[in-house]
Amino acid sequence: MSTIRIDASERGVDVNSKMIGLFFEDINYGADGGLYGELLENRSFDFFPTKVYPDISPLYAWETLGGATLTSETDSPTNSVNPQYARLCAKAGDGICNKAYDGIALVKGDKYYFSFYARGEALVRITTGHDNSTVFAVTGGWKHYEGILTATESVNDAKLYITLENDASVDIDMCSLFPQKTFRNRRNGLRADMAQALYDMRPGFLRFPGGCIVEGNGLDNRYRWKDTIGDIETRKCNWNRWQNANVGEEYVAHNYFQSYGLGFYEYFLLCEDLECEPLPVLNCGMGCQYQCDETVSGEQLEEYIQDALDLIEFANGSDSSTWGKVRAKMGHKKPFGLTYLAIGNEQWNEKYFERYEKFQKAISEKHPEIRLITSSGPSAAGKEFDNAYEWLRGKDPSFAFMVDEHYYVSADWLLKNTNRYDSYDRSLPKVFAGEYACHISPSQPRPNSLEAAVAEAAMMCGFERNADVVFFASYAPLFARIGYTQWTPDLIFVNGHDLFLTPSYYVQQMFAKNLPTYTLKASVSDDIHASVGFDEKNGEYIVKIANYGNEKTVDIEIAGASVKEAEAQVLTASSKDAVNTMENKSAVIPANVRCDSARTFTAPAYSFSVIRLK
Ligand code: AHR
Repeated sequence: MSTIRIDASERGVDVNSKMIGLFFEDINYGADGGLYGELLENRSFDFFPTKVYPDISPLYAWETLGGATLTSETDSPTNSVNPQYARLCAKAGDGICNKAYDGIALVKGDKYYFSFYARGEALVRITTGHDNSTVFAVTGGWKHYEGILTATESVNDAKLYITLENDASVDIDMCSLFPQKTFRNRRNGLRADMAQALYDMRPGFLRFPGGCIVEGNGLDNRYRWKDTIGDIETRKCNWNRWQNANVGEEYVAHNYFQSYGLGFYEYFLLCEDLECEPLPVLNCGMGCQYQCDETVSGEQLEEYIQDALDLIEFANGSDSSTWGKVRAKMGHKKPFGLTYLAIGNEQWNEKYFERYEKFQKAISEKHPEIRLITSSGPSAAGKEFDNAYEWLRGKDPSFAFMVDEHYYVSADWLLKNTNRYDSYDRSLPKVFAGEYACHISPSQPRPNSLEAAVAEAAMMCGFERNADVVFFASYAPLFARIGYTQWTPDLIFVNGHDLFLTPSYYVQQMFAKNLPTYTLKASVSDDIHASVGFDEKNGEYIVKIANYGNEKTVDIEIAGASVKEAEAQVLTASSKDAVNTMENKSAVIPANVRCDSARTFTAPAYSFSVIRLK
């Protein structure tokens, strides 16, 4: 029999109620074509040839109909930030259509905002072919036209048609089709089902916007937060550094760009809607160290540092400060309450240390209230990792609040490292397990199986037991659009109209919803992984058990407490290889189990259980 021996009077450590959070990156079409509610692809004709794919067309995703011609133009554009627009010459009845990834999903009776900029003299019809369709009389110079389409049927593979009612030539820019029903019904908002799945996980924080996307393929396409705020038409379109990666044969990421319709303002709003802490990551003046050795210094680096200071003002400044005013103009007078800021994503060694120190000095002088996060490189062990901790040793606690650790590792590694944080030096900054996941096989596609999720749960028991060290933890990556995926495994899989949650998602959710107020010391037999704590709010003991192996009978003894009843939530399936799919979303989902005894618990083979003892 397996055993868990708890002494109710042996208080362990306090647990941060926001410990389990989210990592969001625009990878796997996580933003455009994913969480961002926009239904059109390349809505403003701004795609451009990149150093990875020099043949990318600014007209990508748009097809001509009949004898229509479509050209990319730049003379007298709608704005100088995104100067490309399209010129459509067509006879009556002809026009263009947008294929929008693998089709636009419409729900019968739902309303969709449609808008575009146009110049010329023409009667322009807008329709998906499954709605009431609208005709606009376009006349004169650039103007903004908008209307509402109501879907007359539900379809998942619609296109958006822009056709002419008369023979004409018309210039078009920034076409948008947006569901009225977004998460919390925000304009320029987020796909409701995807954001709801985030909310339902009850995350404590959201780390954004990445990931490698922060660094870019090189500094030329790094993430610049200032390009992602303000009017959506003047957010400078950028190419996505995941353009050259793909799972599977088909090269779907070739035309992967960032419209930044989901930008920093929207990320902060999302945090507010999810009731979680915002945790932005900024470029530290270095490109991705895997791909280039680009760095900036001197005056150029000052600009990056200034960007960090300006971001703090954008988030927290009063509405009369320079950047606070920008936030207020966008609709949010009240500050967002930014506390955490990460400098650099996966950076390492002296070049990084030098730059971090400059950021740290400038930020702590002006904003000592901001808790900074430093990188320890791309892996959880090795020379770079050790160098990072060596560099941090002996520094003042205000130098860095947390160290970001990343590990994409095997189940075996996780199981052998569940005690990793037991022996961490408590005088060093806390740990942010900012990216981790169990990779069942070394190469992709790697399944999001029950086995992977149980191994992650075992590791997370170690996070919880060491909550005085591990302050934040987030699985990575978050979203993957099926057929548009560069990286597996992921937490949530989507297509254009639906999603399913993985066993790993449920493990994250079960942890996030069942964090104790403090841990209790317990002695646990070697054949299971566990964490034990007390929830002061509900007056309940919480026991978490990750069972990576055959079924076990677990004897739970709490000395010094009288336990009356127990309830459990159990995540398991008939096989450790079980996965959820769009066709079977519930192959691995948690089930509520009423325990016959408050003392003896049966942990099924390959399972993660949360037991609440009253
Ligand atoms: O999560 C996928 C990638 O893994 C992230 O972009 C990067 O930080 C890490 O290498």
